[in-house]
Amino acid sequence: MLFIADIVGQPGRRAVKELLPELRRRLAIDVVVANGENAAGGSGITVKTADEIFAAGVDVMTSGDHLWDQKEVVGLLENEKRFVRPLNYPAGTPGQGSMIFRNGALPPVGVMNLQGRTFMPPLENPFHAALSEVEKLRRGAKIIFVDFHAEATSEKIALGRMLDGRISALIGTHTHVQTSDEQIFPGGTAFLSDGGFTGPHESVLGREIDAIIKRFVTCQPQKFEVASGRVLLQGALVEIDEQSGKALKIQRVSEPLADPEKNP
Ligand SMILES: [Fe+2]
Ligand SMILES: [Fe+2]
Repeated sequence: MLFIADIVGQPGRRAVKELLPELRRRLAIDVVVANGENAAGGSGITVKTADEIFAAGVDVMTSGDHLWDQKEVVGLLENEKRFVRPLNYPAGTPGQGSMIFRNGALPPVGVMNLQGRTFMPPLENPFHAALSEVEKLRRGAKIIFVDFHAEATSEKIALGRMLDGRISALIGTHTHVQTSDEQIFPGGTAFLSDGGFTGPHESVLGREIDAIIKRFVTCQPQKFEVASGRVLLQGALVEIDEQSGKALKIQRVSEPLADPEKNP
């Protein structure tokens, strides 16, 4: 399976549209999960941007702390079965924190989204939420993928270690910086602290550089536009044994979009 880290704005969506069909063929990918929390103008996701990403070949979409930036997300949460939000929002929040993806002869794949609490707005404890939800998912799927949207590497590694042997893979998102610690834990769970982001890398985390510098220099709020240069599709590829649900291999992905300026 391929996981695509945070798709940022129009350049990120273009990278998915232009690169994913060829990646699916070349790497013989069965399932694609993508984080879409920054898909609409860098902040949140709309029905139209979600449709665009699904049409490009993404099977299931996860999100994170930017979930509520676009009002229309409520429509997605209520109606889109392929859309997953962090599980550890309070009871009564619209949408679902996990789902089981089924596609023809492929084995069912459980997908769960969680959000961290270290240096982030407080939510329910993701460790408690994860344990009970994994047990529930395991009744319907041997293969389970977790997108843990969190700031702190310690929180991500701790959750990955706690779930080692019970899930196939945990990949972190949110920092937009790809880490180089991909590994398979002793119990068979593939892990990567952060998958990076899909979008313009001639930037600060996908936004125009100058405004971000100005914000730090002046301590005043600025408008952060999505940048445009050096577009990459980032994430990770995980090979999973369908009998045991254990990971066999994890490999970081960072694919450049050729001539991003030429294809507006
Ligand atoms: Fe993000
Ligand atoms: Fe985030």
